[in-house]
Amino acid sequence: MPLRVVSLHGHATRLSKDGRQDAGQLCMAIRLIMQKTHVKSLVITGASSGLGLALARHYLERGATVAVFARRGELLQALATKFPDQVFCYALDVRDVPAVQNAANDFIARAGVPNVVIANAGMSVGTLTEYAEDLDVFQQVMDINVLGMVKTFQPFVAAMRAKKQGTMVGIASVAGFRGLPGASAYSASKAAAISYLESLRVELHGSGVKVVTICPGYVKTPMTSINAYPMPFILDADEAARRMVRAIERQTSFAVIPWQMNLVGRLLNYLPNWIYDRLFVNAPRKPRVNS
Ligand SMILES: NC(=O)c1ccc[n+]([C@@H]2O[C@H](COP(=O)([O-])OP(=O)(O)OC[C@H]3O[C@@H](n4cnc5c(N)ncnc54)[C@H](OP(=O)(O)O)[C@@H]3O)[C@@H](O)[C@H]2O)c1
Repeated sequence: MPLRVVSLHGHATRLSKDGRQDAGQLCMAIRLIMQKTHVKSLVITGASSGLGLALARHYLERGATVAVFARRGELLQALATKFPDQVFCYALDVRDVPAVQNAANDFIARAGVPNVVIANAGMSVGTLTEYAEDLDVFQQVMDINVLGMVKTFQPFVAAMRAKKQGTMVGIASVAGFRGLPGASAYSASKAAAISYLESLRVELHGSGVKVVTICPGYVKTPMTSINAYPMPFILDADEAARRMVRAIERQTSFAVIPWQMNLVGRLLNYLPNWIYDRLFVNAPRKPRVNS
C-alpha cells in the first residue's frame, strides 16, 4: 500500500516499498519544506520563459506568492494553473507605464507590498549602427532593458521605503562590462542598467530598501538558444536561478553568475583597448533582426 505524502503546496507524491523514484520525490518534498523561503511575496518581470520563469518556479515551489509580468499571458496562465492561489498574472509590456503601475497597485492591494521585485524582462538581438533599419531595434532594446527596469521599480519604491524594507533586483549582464561588437544595443543597455542600478542603490542607502545587481554570464534559455557559437561556463536556467536566489538572499550588491564569469569580466575590464580590440574584432556576433 503506497504511503501518500503531501508536499508543501499540495503536490502529492507516493512512497511505495521499493520505489526509488518515489523516495527521491519524498526527499525533494522534504528539501522544499526545509528550504521554505523567507521571501513571502515578489514580483518578477519576464516570467513567461527562461530565467524569469525559473526564478518564479523556484519561489513558488517554496511557498511564495508571485506576481508575474510578461506579454505572453497564456504562458503566465499556464504557470498559474500549476500553482493555484500563489500566482497573480499580469499580461503586459514593461514599456507601458500605466499598465505596469496598474498591475503594481493591484498586486499591492491584493497581496501587500512585495518583499522583492525582480526586473528581469529583456531582449537581446544583434545590431549595427550603419543600418538605418536597426535604429528602431536600438530603441526597443534600450526601452525594454533599461527603461523597462525603471518603470518596473518605480511604483514600488515609495511603498517599500514606507515599510523600510524590500529588495529591488535588476538583471543586467556580463555583456555590459565592455562593448561587444555586433551587440552594441544590448551591451549599451546592460551597461546602462548596471549604472542605473548603482545610482538607485545609493539613493536608497539607509532606507531599508536594498538593490541587488545580477550579471549572468551565459544561461540556457530561448535567448541563447539561437547563438551558434561556444558559450563558456553556460548554466541551465534552474541552476542559474538557484545562484541568483542565493545572491538575493545575501543581498549582495553586485553578483556575477557563475563565478568564473566574474573572473572573465574583471579581466575584460582591465584589458587595455588595443588588446581588447584585437581580441574581439572577429568575435562571433548575434544575428540582426533585419539581416
Ligand atoms: N540567457 C542568458 O545567457 C542571459 C545572460 C545575461 C543576462 N540575461 C538577461 O536575463 C534576462 C532574462 O533573459 P532570458 O535569457 O531568460 O531570455 P528569454 O527566455 O528570452 O526571456 C525574456 C523574458 O522577457 C520578457 N520580455 C521581453 N520583452 C518584454 C516586454 N517588452 N515586456 C514584458 N516582458 C518582456 C519575455 O516575455 P514576453 O515575450 O512574454 O513578453 C520573457 O519572459 C534578460 O534581461 C537578459 O538580458 C540573460
